[in-house]
Amino acid sequence: MTEKSDKKIHPSPEPSGGSFARERWATRIGLVLAMAGNAIGLGNFLRFPVQCAGNGGGAFMVPYIIAFVLLGIPLMWIEWGIGRFGGKYGHGTTPGMFHYLWRHPAAKYLGAIGIAIPFGLVVYYTYIESWTLAYSIFSITGKYFGIQNHQGMVDFLAGYQGKAVNGYFNGIGTAYLFFMITMILNVWILSRGISRGIERLANVAIPMIFVFGFILLIRVFTLGTPDPAYPDRNVWNGLGFIWNPDFRALGNAKVWLAATGQIFFTLSVGFGAIQTYASYLSKRDDVVLSGLATSSANEFAEVILGGSIAIPVTVAFFGLQQTRQIASGGAFDLGFFAMPIIFQKLPFGQFFGAIWFFLLFLAGITSSVSMAQPLVSFLQEEFKLAKKQAAYVVGGLAFFLMQPVIFFLKHGFLDEMDFWIGTFGLVVFALVEVILFIWVFGSRNAWKEICTGADIRIPRIFYPIIKYVTPAYLIILMGVWFWQDGMNVLLMKGVRPENYPYIWFARFVLAGILLLMVALVRIAWQKRHYIQQRIPS
Ligand code: PHE
Repeated sequence: MTEKSDKKIHPSPEPSGGSFARERWATRIGLVLAMAGNAIGLGNFLRFPVQCAGNGGGAFMVPYIIAFVLLGIPLMWIEWGIGRFGGKYGHGTTPGMFHYLWRHPAAKYLGAIGIAIPFGLVVYYTYIESWTLAYSIFSITGKYFGIQNHQGMVDFLAGYQGKAVNGYFNGIGTAYLFFMITMILNVWILSRGISRGIERLANVAIPMIFVFGFILLIRVFTLGTPDPAYPDRNVWNGLGFIWNPDFRALGNAKVWLAATGQIFFTLSVGFGAIQTYASYLSKRDDVVLSGLATSSANEFAEVILGGSIAIPVTVAFFGLQQTRQIASGGAFDLGFFAMPIIFQKLPFGQFFGAIWFFLLFLAGITSSVSMAQPLVSFLQEEFKLAKKQAAYVVGGLAFFLMQPVIFFLKHGFLDEMDFWIGTFGLVVFALVEVILFIWVFGSRNAWKEICTGADIRIPRIFYPIIKYVTPAYLIILMGVWFWQDGMNVLLMKGVRPENYPYIWFARFVLAGILLLMVALVRIAWQKRHYIQQRIPS
């Protein structure tokens, strides 16, 4: 691209504060819905119930709420702050943002992590998202009706995924079809851009998620005691299981790790995705109230809808003991195995099944576009690709990398990616951004940055929390994590030897994604001369 056309799209920063030709969110409510769409995802409806029930219910909720206040909310504000800050220099991704936070050549490479992580997540998250679309259709057609036990549902999913050959599916074709549909939808939304693609999707999808959620909630609350032969298997015991706090678990590091990891995952903090959305704000737009509204909407969807649907209903039908057991099986055990069995026992079960899985799909797609957007923005801004081109390139690259996820699923390929991205990477990245923002850029500057244009005042207590507690918490978390799980995962403890090559392949792909982003950042910076640019006041 020539100098001249370069200038037209991307004028050098002006003292007025950079009136770049960047997109903007169309409305404030649209922005909050889009951010809520980013945060509200499969994590709220599949991951949360399993984490909560598997870690003792009320015992989990205590560290969960603490992590929300000490990590979740501060990180949300920090990421909105960093994002809006980068946006005024014309950067929607962390390489550019970090560059302006820390005038050091290494900053942009640290920022590359903030594109690699969300993009890596797209690669497996979108596949899971496509299952939920398939299952909503299977609910309508009653395809899984007749399978009455847990093992049967496990087999059904395995058949769908092409992991096992059983009577339910002929190979992986159906799964591949739904995967293609999901991919095309994602790319189409991304190609339409921020306000006409993502914002419009959120304007429709988020209200629908809440409506469907409430319908399911009412259905669950009116269940009472479904089987009089088991009087203690009822909805109220299910709710009690989550809401009776158990303070003894505070001494258990495993529960802390699980609760904190869930806070990260569900709020989408530590990924790089929130920053990109926030970069499409104007420089005086509020971030404090909007960030808080997003967090609250997410927590409502998580504990009220996500928690009060899947957990109580499972307790009502299977009892407490079995619910814990089911939840210990893994991320899909409540949503994909227990729920479909329960739908079959309800009148209009096909309808309730369809809205449950369609709710999951909507939650999934509003999240997956937000994970892909950082790379899309990066290609647009740093490589001058058009919106559509950028979306197609990202879609194509993701499609290519998804093949091993799909075909090596049974070898633990997806789980390995999820561990490095969804458990480890986000803590590392969160620590990096907190250090850069609070300690390098400076806590006063950071605080001022967050508070600019704010519609409400942040309680002053959050200043020391953000400055000391949040980073200390992150460091301790990383240490404990490394001690407890890290080494085992690294050394592949418990992995069957025949899967070693697949695990290595997954790591190779992850490293490849990171290196690719680092290389792209390098090329982009060589092409342009950021160092000479002055800061808009
Ligand atoms: N928060 C989303 C969920 O709960 C996941 C997500 C992570 C979305 C990172 C965007 C970025 O499913």
